[in-house]
Amino acid sequence: VSLQPYNTFGIHARATSYCNITNETTLIDVLKNEKDQALFVLGGGSNMLLTKDINALVLHINLKGIEIIKDIDDSVFVKAMAGENWHQFVLWCLEHNYGGIENLSLIPGNVGTSPIQNIGAYGTELKDVFENCEAINISNQEKRIFKKEDCKFGYRESIFKQDLKGKYIITSVTFRLSKNNHKLHTNYGAIQEHLSALGIKNPTIKDVSNAVIAIRQSKLPDPKDIGNSGSFFKNPVISISQFEQLQTNFPEVPFYKVSDTLVKVPAGWLIEQAGFKGKRFKNYGVHNKQALVLVNYGDAKGSDIKKLAKLIQNTVERLFNISIETEVNII
Ligand code: EPU
Repeated sequence: VSLQPYNTFGIHARATSYCNITNETTLIDVLKNEKDQALFVLGGGSNMLLTKDINALVLHINLKGIEIIKDIDDSVFVKAMAGENWHQFVLWCLEHNYGGIENLSLIPGNVGTSPIQNIGAYGTELKDVFENCEAINISNQEKRIFKKEDCKFGYRESIFKQDLKGKYIITSVTFRLSKNNHKLHTNYGAIQEHLSALGIKNPTIKDVSNAVIAIRQSKLPDPKDIGNSGSFFKNPVISISQFEQLQTNFPEVPFYKVSDTLVKVPAGWLIEQAGFKGKRFKNYGVHNKQALVLVNYGDAKGSDIKKLAKLIQNTVERLFNISIETEVNII
């Protein structure tokens, strides 16, 4: 089975076999019956780089459904199944005037994988609206509910990438959203510029979503046109003293203060300074509008993109003495 249609990087890799999972009973049956098989769990395929064929049974989690499970005062609790497309879910919430995820518009991937790396953009993160998620233990098929504190969310981090990596399959996520008195997050410079250019003084959640969509479309490639997995690297967090040294050499370096002792530096800026922005090697390269994004112009090999990532990491390390970690899962 070719996995090319199932990964947003558009890499041609093959899997031994494939199973489309559309209900939980089938999922549990397959987990029980295929105990001796190597398994590979696939969601939206938007955060992985396939560098080789997969010698495993691919379980494609396509559980669908959106349900309101509780409605109290200003909040609504909405449960979405893992296979729902993330952006379609955002649009559904906007249609119902449920607020909280408008800043996360147009992020590729599915609902079920959103907690794994605590997706975030433009001043908000998934954890801000996360209530709980249901997941099935792969080895004994027991269902467990993870509350927010169980998930150990951090910047592009959760327990599902650490201690519980490969141990659970998330089947649904429940969000706590606002019904009115929406708390908007419009501090991000580009959002403010976009709203004021349109003369919008009292934005709605739909206005914020439209601004985010416009900003993303202006710098991030659409996987339908050019294969990619969004930010390939995480923004590095460094100590104040290391940052001050960097700032002496590069006074224009952008940064966000994380705490009294730590500073986050945009990896995109470091990669651009290192000369990689817009660099194209045959059929793959670095996006020309956002250096954090590696792209497949068509039929690129995952292993070539992996080599490029390594070259970028080594160059950034040599020039700035900063190591940048990959955000994308390299398989
Ligand atoms: N910058 C450059 N050159 C570049 C890219 C960025 O100089 O090629 C500079 C920009 O000028 C700006 C700063 O770096 O001063 C930050 O850039 P941007 O606003 O584009 O955000 P980012 O830090 O590069 C992060 C997330 C994105 C998210 C945006 C907006 C990570 C790894 N990435 O990027 O997330 O959309 O902020 O919140 O944290 C994703 O995870 O796939 C993703 C796209």
